[in-house]
Amino acid sequence: MCGIIGVLGKTDVVPSLIGGLKRLEYRGYDSAGIAVQTGGLMDRRRAEGKLVNLEKVVTDDPLTGLTGIGHTRWATHGVPNETNAHPHMTPLVALVHNGIIENYRELAAELEPRGYSFSSETDTEIAAWVITSFLEDGKTPEEAIALSLKKFQGAFSLAVIFKGEDDLMIGAKRGAPLAIGWGDGEMFFGSDAMALAPLTSRISYLEEDDWAVLRREGATIYDGNGAQVDREIKLTKLSGAMIGKGNHRHFMMKEIVEQPAVIGETLNGFFNPKSRTITLPDLPFSWTDLPKVTIVACGTSYYAAMVAKYWFERLAHLPVEVDIASEFRYRSMPLPEGGLAMFISQSGETADTLAALRYARQQGQHIASIINVEESSMGRESDFVFHTKAGPEIGVASTKAFTCQLVTLACIAIDAGVKRGTLSAEEEAHLSSALSEVPARAAEILDHDGAIRELAKKIFEARDILYIGRGPGYPIALEGALKLKELSYIHAEGYAAGELKHGPIALIDETVPVIVVAPTDHFFEKTASNMQEVMARNAQVIFLSDAEGMKQLGEHALGSIEIPTVDPFVTPILYAIPVQILAYHVAVLKGTDVDQPRNLAKSVTVE
Ligand code: G6P
Repeated sequence: MCGIIGVLGKTDVVPSLIGGLKRLEYRGYDSAGIAVQTGGLMDRRRAEGKLVNLEKVVTDDPLTGLTGIGHTRWATHGVPNETNAHPHMTPLVALVHNGIIENYRELAAELEPRGYSFSSETDTEIAAWVITSFLEDGKTPEEAIALSLKKFQGAFSLAVIFKGEDDLMIGAKRGAPLAIGWGDGEMFFGSDAMALAPLTSRISYLEEDDWAVLRREGATIYDGNGAQVDREIKLTKLSGAMIGKGNHRHFMMKEIVEQPAVIGETLNGFFNPKSRTITLPDLPFSWTDLPKVTIVACGTSYYAAMVAKYWFERLAHLPVEVDIASEFRYRSMPLPEGGLAMFISQSGETADTLAALRYARQQGQHIASIINVEESSMGRESDFVFHTKAGPEIGVASTKAFTCQLVTLACIAIDAGVKRGTLSAEEEAHLSSALSEVPARAAEILDHDGAIRELAKKIFEARDILYIGRGPGYPIALEGALKLKELSYIHAEGYAAGELKHGPIALIDETVPVIVVAPTDHFFEKTASNMQEVMARNAQVIFLSDAEGMKQLGEHALGSIEIPTVDPFVTPILYAIPVQILAYHVAVLKGTDVDQPRNLAKSVTVE
């Protein structure tokens, strides 16, 4: 949430700052800004709204500098206008910031008697003035930052440049990510490696409470106690080329289309096609001794957790609790010593999920994370990591990361079942073969793109849309509704089909389309009855099922999408894809911003 870039360059840094912000815009897009300095002169440009607005401002009123910082904002304190946009500047510093400085009101109250006044509604501006006050007291930039960090409370990362100091930039990390990029006579800060991808492949990740002093010849890093520390320089495999849209109009469609390939890639990490077995890396616990599994996540990743619950319970007879991270972290739930806690996250940075992970660690759990961004905070704080190989996901609405999470969880559930003796070798072979078919079947679903676009035309003017499903189809109904509402701003709800008659059925009339997720598994007859119930109340049904389902019920629906017939075990993975495509086309028809829906951000690093 909010993206930070900083460059100590050899040439004008404005193009690198803007380029970095383009790769960070997924983190927030309410406003953007840059500040640069050369020869002791500091200047900035800021603009409300998307980055294109800032680019226009910079074109109309150019600025140059060898040192600079940039920011793309997801508003927390203060509306998203130009005044509240970062960088915040005082006569002595310019500062960009991701996260929240929670005690900003007290800090402001301390500063006001000294005659400081503030022009924005942000916590960030107060932070800039706190640093300034120390500089005005005669402290060096390093001392001013160290003292300020002691005063700041909350979870944040920041980068600061100092007036008159062309070869200096200081950054700090507490609860929000910050990476150092090592160049050749140039140095960088970035919220993630992707921001820095075309600038350098040599990255160090700051650890909790670290702060770093960058000069062109290198970085000096301090921990929270002020002791100088080394942080490993890692080579990132990301390149600028991996982050383009290709021939697609939107990142989201590119990422949907990539699914057969990345699902296959993720599966390859676990599946042996010769022996038709699943092999996981060595785990530091035994599945047979586990008292309990707890799975925690947010958003789409949480729906992956819900699907996994069905798999673990059915295949491994393991009790599984799933929860939303923002609830879990404050529930004070007692967890049995030696249990397994799994955290699912595309970004590996979601603040609530990270806090939930830390809580589970205090409760003596084994900590596993399923993450797409390997070099992320959750990855670093886990006992072991399952890396989904979805590649960079830029569209704010998660698609390929979700199906790769599901594939990974399916493999873990099979392994658990085998090790606990609840799955035979034949069943393992059968289920893993079903998984190995998913990439090819997913590719077949992509062929329905045109037909799904036609269906989208039938529903895009609706005010409310319901999604229903049972068993593992229920989380897919929830995911379908989430995708639709976040992309198209149509009110959509997902329900367990059996729960309809306890309330939601009152909403049904001829204006409410109902999307029915109904593979012919052992829930089919029940879901079919629920579909009949809504049709009896004139709902317009869009029916997602396989050939057998179509034969039985297809003709009754307003529209249908035929999904390849597969083993019921893998249906949640496949049925996720048509609901993504449907939401995409509805959003395109509505003319909304598919890759950057209003008010959202890809990586939610504030709670
Ligand atoms: C945001 C994104 C969602 C994502 C959720 C959890 O809300 O817009 O697409 O599912 O965060 O993110 P994570 O990175 O933890 O999976």
